[in-house]
Amino acid sequence: MSSGIGRQIFKRTFTSRPVDGFTGAVGNTPLIYLKTLSEKTGCRILGKAEFQNPGGSVKDRAALGIVLDAEKRGRIKPGGTVVEGTAGNTGIGLAHVCRARGYKCVIFMPNTQSQEKIDLLRMLGAEVYPVPAVAYENPKNYNHQARDFARELDNAIWTDQFDNTANAEAHYRTTGPEIWEQTEGKLDGFVCATGTGGTLAGTGRYLLEKSAGKTQVWLADPPGSVLHSYITSGGKLKERTGSSITEGIGQGRITNNLGTFVNDVSGALHIPDEKSIAMVYEMLDTEGLYLGASSALNVVAAVELAQKLGKGSTVATILCDGAYRYQSRLFSKKWLQAKGLEDAIPGHLKKYAVLD
Ligand SMILES: Cc1ncc(COP(=O)(O)O)c(C=O)c1O
Repeated sequence: MSSGIGRQIFKRTFTSRPVDGFTGAVGNTPLIYLKTLSEKTGCRILGKAEFQNPGGSVKDRAALGIVLDAEKRGRIKPGGTVVEGTAGNTGIGLAHVCRARGYKCVIFMPNTQSQEKIDLLRMLGAEVYPVPAVAYENPKNYNHQARDFARELDNAIWTDQFDNTANAEAHYRTTGPEIWEQTEGKLDGFVCATGTGGTLAGTGRYLLEKSAGKTQVWLADPPGSVLHSYITSGGKLKERTGSSITEGIGQGRITNNLGTFVNDVSGALHIPDEKSIAMVYEMLDTEGLYLGASSALNVVAAVELAQKLGKGSTVATILCDGAYRYQSRLFSKKWLQAKGLEDAIPGHLKKYAVLD
């Protein structure tokens, strides 16, 4: 493997000018050369360090993109309100964006979510409504409540991250071009899991267009999601069964964001939780990277795709967020045991599961 790779990637992501607050600090994340996995496979395995965004995840891009798009279209004016139904990273990203751009942020979430998440959103200045956790079909579902709440207010938007394609557009404008530039167009494959589908669809569309079809774009899927079977069966939507310990990914339908690209996906990889957990620990041990489970799943998928594409291939993926938001689970022996996943940790790495 060329020893110049690490240096080149570092140089290209070094920003010499100050940027403009939170808005300016989103994106331009490093593309990390994952040395041990690359050497093991004889390929270049690269991970985009999205945990370095100021809100701590890849979802900062979608949150900012959606709000900027609403401003451009005149859907929201200074002092307006941004409403979303989310328990996770998008809510955190939106809370930051709203502080930075002078909006009120209102978040609806299922009342099954941890107090830490509620507290964090409130500390970031959001108004949080935990509501009963009922199915999507129920009008009281947190997503519908967010939509209805925004409808009742003047100068307010419901961000609608799943079906508002400003989400995928943000990745088309930023994540895709960054990866293309950071690899100098030498990219055989890109793979990532999807929640809303924004990251895969936007980044994938840019890379496919820019490479004139040469970069293969694959979807990675956890258990409990229908997308792997949808793609491998040529478009049949199955009933959703099973579940995963990963958060923020897996889907039961083709969202508008994913719909902009799903027909151009080259293939799909199903990644069981055992492999994702093992990779959380392996990335910490070999690279010093403390990653959440969706990032670990993406890395497993990048290795599998690189092996499919052959020795010498270059594959990039997304390191969505850090393990900090999940550590009481991912590093707890008891929790992993309860999920039947304790044995997924490689023997020599079990010492890192330090929490009870
Ligand atoms: C941790 C994490 N990983 C991955 C994703 C998936 O990204 P996208 O919604 O762009 O498909 C999300 C989305 O919320 C997430 O929170």
